[in-house]
Amino acid sequence: KYSDLAITPPMGWNSWNTFETHIDEELVKETADIMVSSGMKDAGYTYIVLDDGWMTMERDNNGDLVPDPKKFPNGIKAVIDYVHSKGLKFGLYNCAGTETCAGYPGTRGYEYQDARFYARLEIDFLKYDWCNTEGITAKEAYSTMSKALKKAGRPIVFSLCEWGDNQPWNWGEPIGNLWRISGDIYPCYDCEFKHDTWSSWGFFKIAEMHKNIRQFSGPDHWNDFDMMEVGNGMTFEEDKSHFALWCMLASPLIAGNDFRKMTKETLTILTNKELIAINQDALGIQGFKYADENGLSIWFKPLQNGNWAVSFFNKNDKEINVNFDWMKHNVVDEVNHLKTSFENFQYDIRDIWQHKDLKSTKTPFKSTLASHDVVTLILKRR
Ligand code: DGJ
Repeated sequence: KYSDLAITPPMGWNSWNTFETHIDEELVKETADIMVSSGMKDAGYTYIVLDDGWMTMERDNNGDLVPDPKKFPNGIKAVIDYVHSKGLKFGLYNCAGTETCAGYPGTRGYEYQDARFYARLEIDFLKYDWCNTEGITAKEAYSTMSKALKKAGRPIVFSLCEWGDNQPWNWGEPIGNLWRISGDIYPCYDCEFKHDTWSSWGFFKIAEMHKNIRQFSGPDHWNDFDMMEVGNGMTFEEDKSHFALWCMLASPLIAGNDFRKMTKETLTILTNKELIAINQDALGIQGFKYADENGLSIWFKPLQNGNWAVSFFNKNDKEINVNFDWMKHNVVDEVNHLKTSFENFQYDIRDIWQHKDLKSTKTPFKSTLASHDVVTLILKRR
């Protein structure tokens, strides 16, 4: 494998979803401050990643990338040092092609030089995009950058952003720590105007589309379902469902909202430690959809010590009642040869949105779920 820098899914913040290329020193510092003061850092968020737009349009005379002096008047190293001084880690973005998606200088042909540049800056994470790549193949291009990073000698998490067209799950493990499996997600559950395949509950479609690549995700090599859109305009229930789904999928948890405008509700979702524990579980297994009936989507994720996480998502535009009789179900994870056996074992149930212990799996689970809401339970084997 590429490195052991991501034994659990990486957690952090990325600038793109809210700010696109409108980033600067102040934004990074304020985000780092809030990461610490809000409790995000304590909950496990570590990486602050600047996406596209941190450079000037041209390399310098030595061929080095140039952090934009207007955005970073004190130099980007000062910003990176500031982030490190807070006990956080710092990441940058570039692209395998000749230019980034926003038209800044790409890395093609400069892999070793750029890797040395990143090592000098002491970054900890590199997201590597896939625009303007005519004439190169993904596996080779990502592999070259991977080798360059290793050669440069600095431990850097390598995040592949290829969107899935070249099936990075088939070749990504020795090359990087995580790979995007789809195009960008958007903060709406009825996204027809953005991208027609994602209409209505698009996040679920992406997750379901990729059910056959579960086995490729695991410690140090994750399927990346994209930076999150929690706090970016969906309803409270939709944000809860989005976050719970990312936790069930063992996806990297990279926040994409403006921390300076973060509401208490958003913070509560993003720092739900019991939910994060599901995402960060040591087995590193990507959860799967067990059933989908009348808009009730039920997902299971095996956890260590014989425990399971289960989430009930209400995809309907109206409230529904859930009545789940454990004894009538036999949940099998065929990839990992694991199964629940509610007949033979009793599990204690904990509701991790309400932070409250419920009855055991001997009695059916009953709940009323608001439109687009989720309930997530941990089943603890007795
Ligand atoms: C496409 C990626 O999928 C996004 O996450 C973001 O990095 C943009 N490119 C930046 O141009």
